[in-house]
Parts: sequence; C-alpha cells; structure tokens
Amino acid sequence: RLEAVIFDLDGVITDTAEYHYLAWQALADELGVPFSREKNERLKGVSRLESLDIVLEDSGLSLPEAAKLRLAEQKNDHYREMIGRITPADLLPGVPELLDSLRERGIQVGLASASLNAPVILERLGAASWFQAIADPAGLRKGKPDPEIFLQAAELLGVTPGNCIGVEDAAAGIAAIKAAGMKAVGIGSPAQLGDADLLLPRAAELSAEKLLELIKP
Ligand code: BG6
Ligand code: MG
Repeated sequence: RLEAVIFDLDGVITDTAEYHYLAWQALADELGVPFSREKNERLKGVSRLESLDIVLEDSGLSLPEAAKLRLAEQKNDHYREMIGRITPADLLPGVPELLDSLRERGIQVGLASASLNAPVILERLGAASWFQAIADPAGLRKGKPDPEIFLQAAELLGVTPGNCIGVEDAAAGIAAIKAAGMKAVGIGSPAQLGDADLLLPRAAELSAEKLLELIKP
C-alpha cells in the first residue's frame, strides 16, 4: 500500500537545478576551471562541499579547507541571489495538482533534499504546507547515493520504506531511493536515470494514478 511519496526538491518541484548550474559555472569561470553541463550532472543531489571538490577535481588547484569554504560560500551567495526571486509561479507545471491529489487521497508527502536552502525555497514557493516532513541534510552522516536522507524522511513520517516512493532528477538520488528499499521515479533522461522504476521526462507527466500503480496493495 502506498503510504508516502518523498520528493527531492531541486529539479523536481522547481527548476533550481538550473540555478545551481549557473552559480557553479560562474564560479568555475572566475577560477578559470573548465566546467560543463555534462560535469554538472554529477553535482545533482550532491552536497555543496562535495560538489566543489568535483568542480575543482581537474583544476590542478589544491586549496586549504578555509579557501574551499570561502568558494562554497561565494557560490551559495550567488545562488541565494537567484532563489530570492522565486515565487509560487516557479513550481514546475503539474506539481501543485499532484501534491493536491496526494493530499486528497491521504497519501503523506515528505521532502528529502540535500540542500540547506530547501526550507527557504519551499517557503518562497508557498509549498511548505503540502509537506508533512522535511529531512534535515545538515545532520546526515552520508549524503546521496546513501539512503540515509530518504530513510530519515520515512521515519519522520512514521511510514515503512517499502510503502514509499521517492521522486528524483539525479542519478545519486535514484540510487539512494533504491538503497532505501523504496520505488524510484526519475524525472529526466534515461542516460542519467536508467535505474528508475518509472521514468518520465517532466514532472507534469506524473500523477497520483501512476504512483499508485507502482505499489499495488
Ligand atoms: C541538491 C542539489 O538538491 O542540493 C545539488 O541537487 C546541491 O546540486 C545540493 O549541491 C546542496 O545544495 P545547497 O543549497 O545546500 O548548496
Ligand atoms: Mg535534484
């Protein structure tokens, strides 16, 4: 029986994945480090500091921890500037309808985002009241692809992982969902998300009916 749907935020509920990309690209340009959309795929679902390590991996730069923290903060300042303009109109098409229909059916909704900015973004989207639980990425021992964040969300909701579906736009996220023993829905392309149990090109194509099909009573 489907008890809960646990969503990633960036790139699933709203298109902040694009803002993360733009902010990393700007930092890479400033440092003169090569960066691309292809490389950006590896940052999806990955924490800010781990992302910075990936951005810097071929740079030949070996920076002390304090310098890395400053660069991560610089990226985040730029990102915060962009998300400061978010309004409820930035919910991806179909998302409000989907969240309403889950609520009507009594299916719980949780958030499992690696982003420390997630609560601010949910508020700006006017989406906070759809969510009964928000996992806290700050206290995690391991980020995605580890299942910890999805298991934490299920625990906060008081539901069994096997009765949950996770929705993700990142390969690391699909791996985390499957490792948590949940069904995985991928929003994006088969090149990155081939392991998903259900793959859709856009959030708009997701519906409560399709989710219920994935976990038969
Ligand atoms: C994830 C994004 O949701 O959050 C990653 O997919 C990002 O790209 C991570 O690095 C951490 O986000 P933040 O807002 O804490 O820097
Ligand atoms: Mg994402």
